[in-house]
Amino acid sequence: MIDVNKQKFFLAPMAEITTPPFRKCVRKFDPDTVLYSEMLSAAAVKGGAMHNEPFMMKNENDEPFVYQLLGGDPEVMADACVILQDRGCSGIDINMGCSAPDIVKKFQGSRILSDIKAASEIVEKCRAVCRCSLSVKMRSGFEETDESYLLEFAKMLQGEGVDYITLHPRHGKLSFRRNADWRLVKLLKDNLSIPVVGNGDIITAEDAKRCIDDTGCDALMIGRGAVTSPWIFALSRKLIETGNYSLEVDLLKTYTDVMRDTANMLPENLHKSRAHRFSFYFMKNFTFAHDLMKKIRNLDRIEFMIETLGEYLDRNPHERVKIFAGGR
Ligand SMILES: Cc1cc2nc3c(=O)[nH]c(=O)nc-3n(C[C@H](O)[C@H](O)[C@H](O)COP(=O)(O)O)c2cc1C
Repeated sequence: MIDVNKQKFFLAPMAEITTPPFRKCVRKFDPDTVLYSEMLSAAAVKGGAMHNEPFMMKNENDEPFVYQLLGGDPEVMADACVILQDRGCSGIDINMGCSAPDIVKKFQGSRILSDIKAASEIVEKCRAVCRCSLSVKMRSGFEETDESYLLEFAKMLQGEGVDYITLHPRHGKLSFRRNADWRLVKLLKDNLSIPVVGNGDIITAEDAKRCIDDTGCDALMIGRGAVTSPWIFALSRKLIETGNYSLEVDLLKTYTDVMRDTANMLPENLHKSRAHRFSFYFMKNFTFAHDLMKKIRNLDRIEFMIETLGEYLDRNPHERVKIFAGGR
């Protein structure tokens, strides 16, 4: 089971990014962050699709760990919950946030937000079989944000017995445009009795502290900011618990570890795409991120990508180690 208030920080599920190698990296910096799988198609889980196996793989120290499920058919979703629960996890999360056109066309992801009755049937069926935590990760609406509908929807989820709700406060049509509207996180926190996890646009420990202070939400989920800074949970936790933080990170070592683990742990057909995905965000740590990424995008082999960063750091040695210190 997930103890939201104790764990406090959640790694957002991200397709092609929250792979076992990346989760291993986040875990090295913070033992308590709740780690999520990338979204798994309930139909593929139920059908035992072989291509799904690398996405369902777990590291030894992934716990507390949550599998995220994508689907719109209540029976299929419940069957997939049973399969994932039997593999072992602290929680299962239902994706009501993905707004990719091919997903919403199938009545999945954020599209489910448009039909409160259909959503309640999915949750009811999953709740009936889940002994682990059951949660929903949602946007603030499918095509628009209507605060009273959002509240009605969240109260329905609470009534159906979900253990906590994560809100990414943008509606589906916005994708990542405009700022996340954290007022909506506060709206849910003020009106629900179950824990509320806020998510959106956190990129520093100071952002994390501000979001908790401003909304009173129970915990935070961080996505893109954690790919650039896998140590963000450790810094944020220190800042919130003690008022300050300090940490020294060897960026080349961190990058090399994730990339070598990607090569060693994932099947070869995934190496290039996963390495590029991670690099896209991680390169933001460097002054010439754009040039670095341009080079890496033209490379197929992970060893060459590591070499590219190594050569860059030979020319810019002061960028190899990043020192963080903040707070009081
Ligand atoms: C590359 C990428 C893949 C994502 N995949 C998923 C996913 O599989 N499931 C999901 O619920 N959200 C997914 N998201 C959304 C994130 O979980 C998160 O809600 C969003 O990025 C906002 O948080 P952030 O501002 O901290 O990144 C994805 C986001 C990105 C950037």
